[in-house]
Amino acid sequence: MTFEELDTPSLVLNVDALNRNLERMASDCRAAGIALRPHVKTHKSPWIAGRQLALGGVGVCAAKLGEATVMAQGGVPDVLLTTELTPPKMDAAIQLLGLTRLTVVVDDAEVLAELGRRASSAGVEVPVLVDVNVGQNRCGVDPGEPALELVRTCTRTGGVGFAGLQGYEGHLQHVYDPEERRRVSLSTFELLAETKQTIEAAGVEVPWVTTAGTGTYRYAIEHGVATEVQPGSYVAMDSNYARVRDLPYESSLFVLCGVVSVNRPGQLIVDAGWKTVSTEDGPPAVRDSSEATYAPAGDEHGRITGLAGKHRPGDQLWLVPSHCDTTINLHDHYCMINDGGEFLGRLPIAARGRIAN
Ligand SMILES: Cc1ncc(COP(=O)(O)O)c(C=O)c1O
Repeated sequence: MTFEELDTPSLVLNVDALNRNLERMASDCRAAGIALRPHVKTHKSPWIAGRQLALGGVGVCAAKLGEATVMAQGGVPDVLLTTELTPPKMDAAIQLLGLTRLTVVVDDAEVLAELGRRASSAGVEVPVLVDVNVGQNRCGVDPGEPALELVRTCTRTGGVGFAGLQGYEGHLQHVYDPEERRRVSLSTFELLAETKQTIEAAGVEVPWVTTAGTGTYRYAIEHGVATEVQPGSYVAMDSNYARVRDLPYESSLFVLCGVVSVNRPGQLIVDAGWKTVSTEDGPPAVRDSSEATYAPAGDEHGRITGLAGKHRPGDQLWLVPSHCDTTINLHDHYCMINDGGEFLGRLPIAARGRIAN
């Protein structure tokens, strides 16, 4: 069977392109001697996580406990939960420790104390990274002294074990110009380095520093403070990341959609709307035409203008999502194809919708 026989709309993953992306990231990290802990918030598949581990990944990152649980149940032995753990989720996290080596991040002394209490009464010690705000101004404790203070609290609290620092520069991933991206990334990693020095000067070792995504991992390698990088999007890429210049990764993810109506001149209506492809980072690109543009036309419909040639209802068109993570989360499975367009089978997106516990 080839892709032409696939139903529309379908989320299609080119496994050959996926493998090239996985191998490229793994070999860059291997050559640099830095640990690779891919973020599964992008692909949400324990099978792809397994490929990443087989290529040398030291574990994975998960954004939510539900995602971490799916990975642990799928056999991933080491998971870093990169979003702050809150009291309502602590017992579930402690239970998950029985299934995988789970590390959590904290940015709040009271939350840390509560985690320590619950872990102690369960008779376990939870490994903890102090999350440092390196400029995204989302989560994290401020660099320098505030981070040291939380580290000190951590070392004095039973039930938790200080393992290191996380500092994720999400606001820099899409700085399109490589020189500018390099400059702002290096100064951000310097904040992490200064914080590490402050903590070590106070007599606490910082064995683990985790940071960086697809847009910045090379600069994390160049800077040297990070022991580990946590890129996610490189597996699939998307039309927004395609604008980030100098990244050696290719689109492996597409939405195959079908034309449903051609009655208005100058436009085609396709069967991919908001329920099929996300648009918060702009419209998806139309793969085979640089002139054509897509605009959402409702939950179930999209409008394509500027496409040359004659099209009829039932024709197929390829879209490149503008944001891989949120598009993937709309689908139950990937339709896997190879470079030759052969259909290889369906892969469940097992952590799809696992946005909570
Ligand atoms: C904490 C954290 N680490 C790593 C990543 C991966 O970044 P990217 O998908 O840009 O590679 C993300 C993505 O949102 C993230 O939130």
